[in-house]
Amino acid sequence: MSRPTGRPATGATAPATALRAPAPGWATEADVVVVGSGVAGLTVALRCAAAGAKVTVVTKARLDDGSTRWAQGGIAAALGEGDTPGQHLDDTLVAGAGLCDERAVRTLVTEGPGAVRRLIGTGARFDADEDTGEILLTREGGHHRSRIAHAGGDATGAEISRALVAAVRAAGIDTVENALVLDLLKDGSGRAAGVTLHVMGEGRRDGVGAVRADAVVLATGGMGQIFSATTNPAVSTGDGVALALRAGAEVSDLEFVQFHPTVLWLGPEAQGQQPLVSEAVRGEGAHLVDADGVRFMRGRHELAELAPRDIVAKAIMRRMRERGAEHMYLDARHFGAPMWERRFPTILAACRAHGIDPVTEPIPVAPAAHYASGGVRTDLRGRTTVPGLYACGEVACTGVHGANRLASNSLLEGLVFAERIAEDITA
Ligand code: SIN
Repeated sequence: MSRPTGRPATGATAPATALRAPAPGWATEADVVVVGSGVAGLTVALRCAAAGAKVTVVTKARLDDGSTRWAQGGIAAALGEGDTPGQHLDDTLVAGAGLCDERAVRTLVTEGPGAVRRLIGTGARFDADEDTGEILLTREGGHHRSRIAHAGGDATGAEISRALVAAVRAAGIDTVENALVLDLLKDGSGRAAGVTLHVMGEGRRDGVGAVRADAVVLATGGMGQIFSATTNPAVSTGDGVALALRAGAEVSDLEFVQFHPTVLWLGPEAQGQQPLVSEAVRGEGAHLVDADGVRFMRGRHELAELAPRDIVAKAIMRRMRERGAEHMYLDARHFGAPMWERRFPTILAACRAHGIDPVTEPIPVAPAAHYASGGVRTDLRGRTTVPGLYACGEVACTGVHGANRLASNSLLEGLVFAERIAEDITA
């Protein structure tokens, strides 16, 4: 690609560090451009549109192709009887290994329950008790209480994505799919003024173009594809962090990449996205064992298999090294077929598709890259260090996760800070 010839069609300029690309051949205008279409991006879009803003959502593949769809375990919030935001705060701070921003965590846990209820109001259906209608809650690593709401058993992200995509379509929000974002546009004062993007389509908006907007929200997800084995989909290539760096925004905590302890082991040559075996399986009572059936998490941590994720992942790696093994096992045969089918249909199907039947045999598992705890640094309103540029969800670093994200806090973070960003933009 060659360098832009002259100013982009928007009248705003791309930074000197911009990618080499042809000048935009088309342009469109909005009040807000949201880049990415997971829980964070679509929630910002919906809330801004509800407040009367003209919103355009651009996304690299299809609207439902991001990481949100793959989230299994659920969304954490102090919704259960006897649970409080304070207890959720304590668990989050411990998992974050002393490096969380406590104000950000307090915001997350305090606003979380309301944000989940508003998500339900948007159309997401969580698993609930048939008699009482109460949302069913499970446990995951690092949580001292059952506070993880789930949907479709282990298809929480898919349900959230379905509900949000349907709401975005119903609201008539402008969307541009198959659009790789290139660079941030800035006005003369250095304020964000839109983005350039490359659309691989065949319609009116094809090739390199520009969306001009007063506010730009990065919600591009993570960067798991940097690693050879990851739970992240193919689209998780760190585009948002790269754009932000080129635009001069500060990033922080990029070294804190979380490895999920239990990813289905598909052999030493397996590469790219690997099937996740949710922590919720351990939350419901599955055991981690070595090839001799020894539960090696016992005695290592008071929560054993439900210790924070970094501790479990490290213990698995240590045991693998000690035993010269390529993986460990997750044993949940005692669930029986009915529970597997009802509670974990997605994982059951994925295992069976790879020739493993968790009903009759332990599942081979090993850690793989899962989540970028750091990212584009933001304040509590999602503002980055570049005026007019916001970041939300996995691409952002709000300070909530510290060195290690507490299980199922990511969907919640996307939701809570998306609402805050929308409020800031439309105030
Ligand atoms: C899982 O279901 O184990 C993943 C949940 C998360 O990443 O928080």
